[in-house]
Amino acid sequence: MEQTKRIKISVLTIFPGMFDILKNYGVIKKAIEKELVEIDIFNLRDYTTDKHKITDKPGYGGQNGMVMLAEPFYRFYDEFILSKSHKPYIVLPSPQGKVFNNDLAFELAKKEELVFFCGRYEGIDERVKKIVDKEVSIGDYVLTGGEIPTMVIIETLLRFLPGVIGSKTSVENDSFYNGLLDHSHYTKPQNFRGMKVPEILLSGNHERIETFRKKESLLKTILKRPDLFIKKELSEEEKKVLIVLIQEMFNENSNILKESHDV
Ligand code: ADE
Repeated sequence: MEQTKRIKISVLTIFPGMFDILKNYGVIKKAIEKELVEIDIFNLRDYTTDKHKITDKPGYGGQNGMVMLAEPFYRFYDEFILSKSHKPYIVLPSPQGKVFNNDLAFELAKKEELVFFCGRYEGIDERVKKIVDKEVSIGDYVLTGGEIPTMVIIETLLRFLPGVIGSKTSVENDSFYNGLLDHSHYTKPQNFRGMKVPEILLSGNHERIETFRKKESLLKTILKRPDLFIKKELSEEEKKVLIVLIQEMFNENSNILKESHDV
């Protein structure tokens, strides 16, 4: 039986309402209901010190735009984080962070408690980074704030928590999990506008279906993401599947073999 693991996630943001989208739909809503995850959203304005609840001021050095104040983040840290017996792992989504991928999601999913600091405007006062454990970027482009990156990171890491996704194998078969892209998927009808489901998927022969899917995964990765394939350490089984795949291709196109010999 899969072990139950719970994770607690807190988010500090000036737009708490944005997280309704994350919490109130689909798989994550169910995970909250099943108490596999607790997601608490904190309003950064509640940690400000002035009556206007200001969270940003113009940056020093004559730059354009506003910078988020360090004080509300530190007040949250003092009140919420330092009061705990164990320190949660603090993530700051930022275009300057380590680029997010499945491996990093897997690592974050192992933590007991995570806190996300969402920045806005030109950025956060650099001194906030002193209390941050990891800066994470979701890609080499810039968004207007850390809320959407936080949601992307949370959604990805929660898929690794046992019980969040229906079956463990569906996570293991996902793209990137084993360094390869996922195989294709089909549902009813068998013939959709003249496009047929591959015969083998209707055969009921699980071993052959498994091999067919492995072939597809390998081939798709080679054709669409050669960068992933180069990094991939192939298992003995995957090498065998690849050999059969190449043999089949060469048998069907014996000319290729002939031409390559002629070169
Ligand atoms: N904030 C703005 N752009 C971002 C990015 N690419 N990744 C994470 N946080 C961000």
